[in-house]
Amino acid sequence: MIKTFEPLDIAGMQIKNRVGVAPMCTYLCEKKDGVANDFHFTHYTNLALGQPGLIIQEATAVNEFGYISDNCLGIFNPRQKEALTHLVSLVHRYDTKFGIQLAHAGNKSRRSNTLRFGPMTTDDVVGMSQIEIDRFIQDFSNSAKAARACGYDFVEIHGAHGYLINQFLSPLTNQRDDEYGQDRTLFLKQVTQAVVKAFEGPVFIRLSGDEYDPMGNSVEDIQKIGALCLSLGVCLLNISSGGFANIPHIGPLYQVHLATQMKQATQGLVATAGLITEAEQVAQIIDSGQSDIVLLGRKFLQDPYFLLKWKYKEGLVQEKDVFAYVYRGLRSLK
Ligand SMILES: Cc1cc2nc3c(=O)[nH]c(=O)nc-3n(C[C@H](O)[C@H](O)[C@H](O)COP(=O)(O)O)c2cc1C
Repeated sequence: MIKTFEPLDIAGMQIKNRVGVAPMCTYLCEKKDGVANDFHFTHYTNLALGQPGLIIQEATAVNEFGYISDNCLGIFNPRQKEALTHLVSLVHRYDTKFGIQLAHAGNKSRRSNTLRFGPMTTDDVVGMSQIEIDRFIQDFSNSAKAARACGYDFVEIHGAHGYLINQFLSPLTNQRDDEYGQDRTLFLKQVTQAVVKAFEGPVFIRLSGDEYDPMGNSVEDIQKIGALCLSLGVCLLNISSGGFANIPHIGPLYQVHLATQMKQATQGLVATAGLITEAEQVAQIIDSGQSDIVLLGRKFLQDPYFLLKWKYKEGLVQEKDVFAYVYRGLRSLK
């Protein structure tokens, strides 16, 4: 058996293989309503038919100020929750674990006609007061509760890419002189505790493992943050990078070492992503233990059946395992 296709237990959740779909915004909500529509139903169903071990739904806003763009998903009003419940039921028909990335864009929101919030006040950003901090933590909690009610198997807190949680974590964007500046992990801690309590199931976090800025958090600082998250009940560290400065070297496998180092520093389960496009690369990362899970983003956008085709070529897909029409398609590969 190829290790990539072996199941893995993540805090009691069994995934059937070790390849997942990375969270990717599709920017296709209509009318700025944050409601999943026919496009999302088709898109995520199509990804599920390719039989990944898990799918992480795109960044989904926990309140009206948290959207990255005018066309991003939300999970805080009844219409949004109803549509997401339907989406989960569709994806679950195809036997994959489905999680949602709970996100707040903070001062990086590109939404039109909205207030932008962040740790610090600037020309167009409202520095968050204690009242807003408490409210946003409650919004994360409510969204985690809603995710449970919608039927998601897991949630992922978006703590990476320079969005709100990352803005609190980084010295580049948090020079507050209150307790949220003295301990830059405090907001993350409170959000994580609230989400772990509210979701009552597997909680992942995505962190930027390198801020690529000498004035930012160091790789070692972020490893300590990873360890902190595990101590708060997070079960998987999804290690990405960047969000503030330009990423200096983007090439094949450019983020894998960050996940490996995080795994070594924390002994936790990790996921990696970033220009991993070949079966051999995935197998090598998993076999060598560099990462427990490999997430593919753009590869799955190009080819949602990439994993299934690889599995078929290895002789691991039987006729009974897939729909007849899919099997006929696979057979034509030979
Ligand atoms: C269209 C697009 C949208 C993305 N949206 C998100 C997102 O919502 N949340 C997130 O954490 N990362 C997001 N990312 C980053 C991906 O999850 C992934 O880390 C990145 O694309 C590198 O992996 P890849 O080379 O396999 O695509 C996005 C990437 C793309 C290409």
